[in-house]
Amino acid sequence: MENLISLVNKIQRACTALGDHGEGSALPTLWDSLPAIAVVGGQSSGKSSVLESVVGKDFLPRGSGIVTRRPLVLQLHKLDKGSTEYAEFLHLPRKRFTDFAAVRKEISDETDRETGRTKQISSVPIHLSIYSPNVVNLTLIDLPGLTKVAVEGQPDSIVQDIENMVRSFIEKPNCIILAISPANQDLATSDAIKISREVDPTGERTFGVLTKIDLMDKGTNAVDILEGKSYRLKYPWVGVVNRSQADINKNVNMIAARGREREYFSNTPEYRHLSNRMGSEHLAKMLSKHLENVIKSKIPGIQSLINKTIIELETELSRLGRPIATDAGVSLPNSLFNCTILLTNNIWFVFVIHAAFHI
Ligand code: GDP
Ligand code: NA
Ligand code: MG
Repeated sequence: MENLISLVNKIQRACTALGDHGEGSALPTLWDSLPAIAVVGGQSSGKSSVLESVVGKDFLPRGSGIVTRRPLVLQLHKLDKGSTEYAEFLHLPRKRFTDFAAVRKEISDETDRETGRTKQISSVPIHLSIYSPNVVNLTLIDLPGLTKVAVEGQPDSIVQDIENMVRSFIEKPNCIILAISPANQDLATSDAIKISREVDPTGERTFGVLTKIDLMDKGTNAVDILEGKSYRLKYPWVGVVNRSQADINKNVNMIAARGREREYFSNTPEYRHLSNRMGSEHLAKMLSKHLENVIKSKIPGIQSLINKTIIELETELSRLGRPIATDAGVSLPNSLFNCTILLTNNIWFVFVIHAAFHI
């Protein structure tokens, strides 16, 4: 099954790489039918931190204020034990990053290239793949945080612009929503809950994550939320304790942070009874399992889409095969180019069909 998720990752990559060339074919539709997981919530609620701990690697720019200013589409590919891990950006093909601090820097630099060094945002995604023996196969999307007011250097429209951008990702029925709410704010004011309820009223595809449990006021706790008594979701809430800003400044590493998180839940009397379903590792496993189920349930639909596409492609190929144009010098290379694209597409479709039959 893990192979299937990895296959879907490859298809998503192929769709992205083909980009505009795929337009007019069924590729955009196919892309929309494949599942991905997006992280939503208010600014500084801990979205990037949650993504990092799900991945088990430090590589995302994080911090107070608006740090994430472009969507980041992140594909995780599991490698065999012992393999060297590396990262690759779609905008820098063939450049392998083994230093994850350099990955973080490239995300910031590539954000600035598109938006300037301002606090502006852009809806043009950055595509990053991480290959590692320590990840589960997942596609994750980090999004700018929802805000209430524009700050210095931002246009007034930014509040609505961010909301629209976030909505454009999470309203797709294939999008699994990780709704991030900080435990040190009232849940009734959670931007994540508000927007996810709007696009997914029945909660079929929403997972509630409660961050900053360690920062709650003394004498209060999150037990009612985590037990689903305050706000009921279809799937159980997961509580996490990410690294604080002080930890980030001190370079506390991921393994230490995960160990401390585990200890936090098993040593805090209020949470001990919930500890086996709390924390980032549990969240990562739960998401991977869920993704598998979603993919399985989507296979019949994907298959019929593929069949339809193949018929369209064959019609198109036979049309391209006809003798054309008086000026062969111009139009022949053009139609060869089209054929190549169509054939490339076809190869991916054949892959999917194989996957569908081998489950
Ligand atoms: P984003 O803006 O939603 O992506 O949030 P970030 O992941 O960038 O986190 C914002 C700030 O909150 C950073 O300084 C993090 O260190 C801090 N933070 C996030 N989650 C937690 C948590 O669970 N506990 C503590 N103490 N700090 C956290
Ligand atoms: Na932030
Ligand atoms: Mg962020």
